[in-house]
Amino acid sequence: MITTINSIDLYQYFQESQNRLETYLQKVIDQFKTHPQLDDAFSYALIGGGKRFRPFLVYSVADFYDIPHEEVDCVAAAIEFIHCYSLVHDDLPDMDNSELRRGKPSCWKQFDTATAILVGDALLTAAFQLIGDASHIGAGARVNLVSMLAHQAGTQGMVGGQMYDLYPTVPKDISSILKMQHLKTGCLIAASCQASAIVAGATEAELNTLKEFGFLLGLIFQITDDILDVEGNELATGKPIQQDGEKNTLINLLGLEETKNLLNKMVLESHDLLALLPHQGGRLQQIIPWALERRK
Ligand code: IPE
Ligand code: IPE
Ligand code: MG
Ligand code: MG
Ligand code: MG
Repeated sequence: MITTINSIDLYQYFQESQNRLETYLQKVIDQFKTHPQLDDAFSYALIGGGKRFRPFLVYSVADFYDIPHEEVDCVAAAIEFIHCYSLVHDDLPDMDNSELRRGKPSCWKQFDTATAILVGDALLTAAFQLIGDASHIGAGARVNLVSMLAHQAGTQGMVGGQMYDLYPTVPKDISSILKMQHLKTGCLIAASCQASAIVAGATEAELNTLKEFGFLLGLIFQITDDILDVEGNELATGKPIQQDGEKNTLINLLGLEETKNLLNKMVLESHDLLALLPHQGGRLQQIIPWALERRK
């Protein structure tokens, strides 16, 4: 059943969903304890900083379907685990070689590269453990969640996108860059939009619309991230800026102004997609201006 979304202030809601996730992460982290250095790095990669944008999407869609937040805490956390693993690996010297993440030394810098590689492995595996063990979610929905997340995080999703980012196989043009961004960022954001709908047993049509919306939101999010690399500041983003001069970005292909024009077109397109959902997507409508807002 789909409810009308009340117009609770988005920023307040965002804060509440952040706090909720932080509390949940603190609660579950102990079950993954093992070697002391891996424990420290696991907690370092997961706790402290991070906007928790993907969990916020999971909770927002849960509201859409009247699913209590406690039912999807584990799903929100699992997606954040996968996201944190992707950041730890993204920063490695042989990938983006970045020394700062979320305002502190990146994981490999704080520990070492071997530990950062293993922490990424641990977070990815732990994500699937969280969902597999979530016995309050029906077995069918759990299998669907695992399958959906594996697709969106794997070779034809985020990992594939990261590989295309590092090693493009075709000359850079708008469509090859959008494809790479769709994979590296859009897929996990689409997973975040679909997850609670899977728990709710949403229709195929709604799941597809949420997925397509997530892909577009992911592009908007990544292009905004690329703009922040040019226009943002290290204090606000918590990571080094002006690192992408040689990177595979639309800004390097088209320039800043044309990239912003493309972004505006995507925003309009995303509203068209939401119009296909009951209540025009409710709170999801407000999320787009929010994702753009962080540019400032
Ligand atoms: C950074 O993601 C990587 C991208 C996909 C652009 P976020 O901007 O969500 O990073 P955190 O979680 O807030 O640190
Ligand atoms: C990273 O893109 C996307 C993933 C981690 C999957 P970026 O390399 O642009 O992310 P930042 O700028 O380091 O956060
Ligand atoms: Mg990268
Ligand atoms: Mg990076
Ligand atoms: Mg970036």
